[in-house]
Amino acid sequence: MSILTWKDEYSVGVRIIDNEHKQLIAMINKAYDSVEKMEEEKVLLELVDEMRKYAMTHFATEEKLMEIHNYPETAEQKKQHNDFMIKAASSDNMLSSDNGAVDPIKVFKYLADWLRGHIMGTDKKLGIFLNEKGIK
Ligand SMILES: [Fe+2]
Repeated sequence: MSILTWKDEYSVGVRIIDNEHKQLIAMINKAYDSVEKMEEEKVLLELVDEMRKYAMTHFATEEKLMEIHNYPETAEQKKQHNDFMIKAASSDNMLSSDNGAVDPIKVFKYLADWLRGHIMGTDKKLGIFLNEKGIK
């Protein structure tokens, strides 16, 4: 089962950003799946790590576009990206078995909700701005 499913309404109107969001969603689902299938913890931690690395690549794509086009809300977006990276890093700790108190499903629910909120809020705004600059 997926924890997050791509919908057309998630499109921000810029192809490279949409493609990277689709990839991120796929990676969250893959990691979530490994929890549901009760695969080895090692597998889950690797998948979360891959997702985190990909999120960094994706944030770099967005930040580069913001800088090139002098996006006025660059600082706010970067702050959100940093917050996510901190949260994703602490997810790693939370998910390891030393910390049995945390329900991994809740961690994924948080990550999925964060990503959906981020796409629908700040990234949509960025998309509108980039469209006005002729970037699609
Ligand atoms: Fe994004």
